[in-house]
Amino acid sequence: MKDMKKFFLVVPIVTFLIPTMAKAQMTYQKDIRSVFEAKCSRCHGTGSPLVDEFKKEREKYTKVNKGPRMNSYTLLLEFVKGKDAGAIMRRLDDGKSKDDKKPGNMYLYLGKDVEERQKNLKIFKDWVGSWSLKRRADLSEEEIKKITAPQ
Ligand code: HEC
Repeated sequence: MKDMKKFFLVVPIVTFLIPTMAKAQMTYQKDIRSVFEAKCSRCHGTGSPLVDEFKKEREKYTKVNKGPRMNSYTLLLEFVKGKDAGAIMRRLDDGKSKDDKKPGNMYLYLGKDVEERQKNLKIFKDWVGSWSLKRRADLSEEEIKKITAPQ
């Protein structure tokens, strides 16, 4: 009887902890870098301008398919929880939770088909921790703190 009680206590604790632990382990080095290199770096890599330069001539760079450079942890983080916080979330979102259902314009690059796009979107979501489509100015300090995106 006592063992049964223990069993019913331990099972829910373990099933609750496993997904939490798996989530906490997502890191830039282990999970994001390879996806970024495969899917994003041809337009956001070494051949692309840094964000300040990009913003000065947004149209010129956009025409030749160059977005701001994000090919390191520090550079990418600016678009997650820095100066351009939320940009990664707004651009990569699949639009499913939005009223207009419109995906962000970088969602398409996450994969060659829906399956791959959803898989990679999930990796980004788990890494970011708190997925909000708000702009920097509308994010509270509390909300920024919830964005984890570990190195
Ligand atoms: C074929 C080229 C191309 C690929 C591939 C691409 N992007 Fe982009 N991206 C651009 C261009 C050009 C812009 C700037 C124009 C715009 O804002 O849409 C941009 C803009 C962005 C922005 C907004 C930057 C800002 O101004 O705040 C983010 C965030 C972004 N991309 C993320 C990504 C991610 C993450 C990937 C990989 C999944 C990716 N992009 C793949 C070309 C690309």
